[in-house]
Amino acid sequence: MNINIKTEAIAELQADVLAWPITSELQFADELKRAVGDQLDELVQIGETKGRAAELTILHSPPAESIRRHYLVGVGDVLDANSIFKAAGQAVCAAVKRGAKRLAIHLSDEALVRPAIEGALYGSYQNAAYKKSDDVRALDELILCGSITGASEQSGEITGQAVNLTRELVNMPANDLGPQEFAERAEAEGKAAGLEVEVLDEDSLQKLGAGAHLAVGQGSARAPRLVRLSFAPDNAGDDHLCLVGKGITFDTGGLSLKPAKSMETMKYDMAGAATMLGAITAIGRLRPPLRVSCVLAMAENMPGSRATRPGDIVRAMNGQTIEILNTDAEGRLVLADALTYAARHVDATHLIDAATLTGAVSVALGNIHVALLSNNKPLADRVRDAGQATGERFWPLPMDEDYLTPMRGEQSDLRNISGNRNAGTITAAKFLEQFTDDTPWAHLDIAGTGWLEKPLPHAPRGASGVAVRSLVRVAEGWSA
Ligand code: BES
Ligand code: ZN
Ligand code: ZN
Repeated sequence: MNINIKTEAIAELQADVLAWPITSELQFADELKRAVGDQLDELVQIGETKGRAAELTILHSPPAESIRRHYLVGVGDVLDANSIFKAAGQAVCAAVKRGAKRLAIHLSDEALVRPAIEGALYGSYQNAAYKKSDDVRALDELILCGSITGASEQSGEITGQAVNLTRELVNMPANDLGPQEFAERAEAEGKAAGLEVEVLDEDSLQKLGAGAHLAVGQGSARAPRLVRLSFAPDNAGDDHLCLVGKGITFDTGGLSLKPAKSMETMKYDMAGAATMLGAITAIGRLRPPLRVSCVLAMAENMPGSRATRPGDIVRAMNGQTIEILNTDAEGRLVLADALTYAARHVDATHLIDAATLTGAVSVALGNIHVALLSNNKPLADRVRDAGQATGERFWPLPMDEDYLTPMRGEQSDLRNISGNRNAGTITAAKFLEQFTDDTPWAHLDIAGTGWLEKPLPHAPRGASGVAVRSLVRVAEGWSA
């Protein structure tokens, strides 16, 4: 899909469809009124068009007009970055479904250009890599028109493509994406984005003493990997942000086996790593004045004959011992070593991790908010504020020391489960905190939000790509 900014009059445009974002105030641009005539008033009068979020009204204009179809895409009460993202995505989905090749979207404000492009790219993503190619339709051209210059076209395109990279990887079945394949893909994507890349295999992890990470991978025939990607611009200051991701390419639960139903979507248990990879590929292209690295902890959690047994005690990279009482609480194990690696070997000054860490986060926040847990309020605020700019929602949870108590071991320094289901998202985060070396750190639990169980007007079922856009903005806005 080519993206073009066109500032000429509507009558000069060549497109199959022109989409107009419409708020509930129902104010219509003169050009729209001219193109579709009295229909508009009638639609409003009979209550067909109200400007509600996700409402789509399709209008036709006479054959003499260069554009024959107009979509009124409801955005609700306000037209902002969040609502235009969804509306642009919905317009693309609707146009593609109806076989259109050229879609134009009318924008009234320069600030809408970037989120509109991100949304249009989001809407253009189809989870169709495994389908016959003649079943797949796509737009050839997206045109943005109206009173805009399009200065932020490139940043929108870069970020939108990064989100779709994340979604593509998360949607990939685990037979095609194990730790090795994921690491190879991360390396290729990182290099293409101008990043320095290092891939650590099982031997290197052994040498580093990554006993927690290795314990998770040892029940699988496919060995674990750790990937570091780094972006270091000449104009950077002293801060070094490291994005750490949980990359369990499939989570069976290990010997603490999950029920079949719970396993159906567990290929998405690498969504945290895919999120961070997506974010850093965009950062490598956008080049903000900040050092940013990424550490991705990849493993497949399988119940093979060498698998970790409940009750096994392992030594993590930071020297602490962990009794693994439940092999299904594996994300915190790989992240324990990845966080230590980031704090000690990458020299990060700030850590943010993303992980599909707990089922409990869906009990607490459903699929609406990402859980945000942190040892540093200013860092957590950066994430929340970035979410304000994208419409991605992050909700803080408490981190009192008392929540660590049930994670303390009898025979070991720590145990990997608390012994009951209470506050599962928080106890998991308290466990992670023990591996941060007191570095300012924020943890994003995306288990509830990383996967769309049902399609949306602007997205198919599957990976949501949540948090990529916000993390890119955290890096871009760092020194501000
Ligand atoms: N990958 C899961 C978390 C998860 C569960 C994501 C359900 C999406 C839906 C994680 O590895 C896990 O299994 N966590 C356990 C922890 C428990 C054993 C303390 C959980 O949440 O049940
Ligand atoms: Zn698990
Ligand atoms: Zn998991």
